[in-house]
Amino acid sequence: MKYLLIPILIFLSCDSSPENTSNELKANMILSGMTLDEKIGQMAQINLTVIAKGPSKWKSSYPLVIDPKRAKKAIKDFKIGSIINTINGKALKPVNWRESISKIQNFAIDSTRAKIPVIYGIDGIHGATYAEGATMFPQQINIAASWNKQNAYNMAKVIAYETRAIGIPWNFSPILDLGIDPRFPRQFETFGEDPLLVGTLSRWMIRGFQGDKNDTSNKFKVASCLKHFVGYQAVISGKDRTPAYIPDNVLSEYHIEPFKEAIKDGAKTVMISSGLINGIPVHANYELIIKTLREKLGFEGVILSDWEDINKLHTRDKVAKNKKEAIKIAINSGIDMSMIPYDYEQFCRFLIELVKEGEVPLKRIDNAVLRILKLKFDLGLFDNPITDFNSYKDFGSKKHNELAYKAASESITLLKNKNDILPLKNNPSILVTGPNANTMRGLNGAWTYSWQGNLADEFAFDYNTIYESVSNTFGPSNVKFIPGVTYNEEGSYFEMKEVNIKKAVDEGRKSDIILLCLGENSYTEKPGDLNDLNIHKLQSKLARELSKTGKPIILIINSGRPRLITDFEPFMDGIINVYLPGNHGGDALADILSGKINPSGKLPYTYPAFPNSLLTYYYKSSEIQNNNQGAYDYVGEVKNLYDFGYGLSYSKFSYSNLTTNRKVYESLSDTIRINVELRNTSKVDGYEVVQLYSSDLFAEITPDVKRLRDFKRIFIKSGESKSVNFSLPINSLGYYNNRNEKVVEKGEFSILVNNLSSNILIK
Ligand code: BGC
Repeated sequence: MKYLLIPILIFLSCDSSPENTSNELKANMILSGMTLDEKIGQMAQINLTVIAKGPSKWKSSYPLVIDPKRAKKAIKDFKIGSIINTINGKALKPVNWRESISKIQNFAIDSTRAKIPVIYGIDGIHGATYAEGATMFPQQINIAASWNKQNAYNMAKVIAYETRAIGIPWNFSPILDLGIDPRFPRQFETFGEDPLLVGTLSRWMIRGFQGDKNDTSNKFKVASCLKHFVGYQAVISGKDRTPAYIPDNVLSEYHIEPFKEAIKDGAKTVMISSGLINGIPVHANYELIIKTLREKLGFEGVILSDWEDINKLHTRDKVAKNKKEAIKIAINSGIDMSMIPYDYEQFCRFLIELVKEGEVPLKRIDNAVLRILKLKFDLGLFDNPITDFNSYKDFGSKKHNELAYKAASESITLLKNKNDILPLKNNPSILVTGPNANTMRGLNGAWTYSWQGNLADEFAFDYNTIYESVSNTFGPSNVKFIPGVTYNEEGSYFEMKEVNIKKAVDEGRKSDIILLCLGENSYTEKPGDLNDLNIHKLQSKLARELSKTGKPIILIINSGRPRLITDFEPFMDGIINVYLPGNHGGDALADILSGKINPSGKLPYTYPAFPNSLLTYYYKSSEIQNNNQGAYDYVGEVKNLYDFGYGLSYSKFSYSNLTTNRKVYESLSDTIRINVELRNTSKVDGYEVVQLYSSDLFAEITPDVKRLRDFKRIFIKSGESKSVNFSLPINSLGYYNNRNEKVVEKGEFSILVNNLSSNILIK
């Protein structure tokens, strides 16, 4: 393929100096020989269905066959430079992917004048989503619950490998949205509610995707895409793609911060949020895209729109009076590539007209196309547009699946263990019940061999559901399964039907232990919007009926967000949150139940107790006023079911001797050296996540009650003590004031670890 490029370089280039080897220079050379319509084509991204055989551009025949006529129109005539997604939201066989993507690349190179390869992009959120046989890790929310950077890295490394293995070099991951709202249908796609946790784990994912040196031309690496810039999940209504109202300093403090470091690390692309902030759709927000993302954060890669969002400036948000104006606003606001994804003719024609009319400067187009071409060079697409498929023997391998199992087992979070009922003892007889007991769809969530995850059971047939794993571990003769209630697969994802609650209760009476598996069916985006955060009433009914048996109940929570269970929680003896642990979640859970694995996960979000009390752990102290006692005082409390960072272990840990190297710090460039003693006082070896928080006691803007500043996951043997150290730069205690400037205020701060605190003074 190199040979095709050389003539173009010679033809287009008038500069052959040695430094002319950099990807930017190569991109510039190509750009300088391109026509306007070739350039605009590079800025257009279409859905695969548009060039696939099938009844329409929205629906294709299965398996995938590239339609030569449609491909000619899109790629040759309109010079489209990017394609995404699968057909019909469903996984394809790797061989089907390989043949099709090779066909697309050959076509792009052989039939167009500029001979520019197509860049293919996909959503590999917790595995190579749309590839049959791909390894499925837990979702990002689980990785966050493991508080282990290595799991973020491993997951991304495997996804990069398996995505490249099907010929795709660009992945729309990681998600840096703050998962601050349990009502939002994509909280599970995040690393939870804390900016530091989100930022840290995202950076490790980028490293896994792009490699330690960002050498994305490596055949096992992909370009990452940070999404969704910015404030996407901080909405008023709790529903997808609805308005958010976020002051600038709040945006900087919590939402932009995680993107900052990820950009410094060299993330190649960013996707813009589908939402609106303060009434302005982010796709139309010049201040956020150009002034903040480009200029302040220094992002130099490709900025991609989200799904159909340019059109939506007209059709949904009404800030553009027609589609042409929508394109003008978005491109002038800094969008480089439009995820169109169907009506590409309109996009290309309107944008060409806008440039000719002087409404969109040619400089803006050149700027966007240069970045896109550079990305294609960075990915090695000009040299190797066709993947050498023989190099990917580890696709779906045991080695990859073991890493997914490890991540799942480290994420599962023990929330309640009355009288140390867990791990289970004496080979008990077990009733496994509930709608999530026997489903791979429930374990995996969305983006699993299908967009909504609804085909997970078909494609993940070889893996174990919770019931299957428990039966394998405790012996089939000891384990019975009766669902009690199930999801109504015909209706909306949230509808349920009662099947046999009475039968489950009767069987519960005969069993030693009841394993009650509740939660949600898979969903994402708009189909996952919710009107009631309470767990479905039939699930609550099942829990209450089972509690009448007097038998110990272990509740397994298997859901993408913390659904309210407050009314029956007191009747549960044990509670384990598995979140969405992926294909190996059943096995990991069974190993925790049997004691083979000692649980170590900690909540990456606040588990609310009540629908009107949805707060992150970093609330303001006015939340703890109490009006109920008659007097207006400050002795109230915020009532959560379980706090952020909470999680039990089969080990018991004690903390002592929290010290700082000094009590007074006089320079902002100082570092606080913190030490705390951790002891495993139990007979069981285990991991503990030591969490370091700080509180600014008084500040110009009401300070958060506390903020996570660092964490360490430590293995500690029975009876052993360890000294745990942290280095906390004073400037990490800063915050954004109401002029949106980051400041560290002098004064008193508390340093907090577990139940200990120590005050310091910054002079
Ligand atoms: C989602 C994005 C995703 C894109 C492409 C959109 O609807 O919001 O997260 O990357 O579709 O599938």
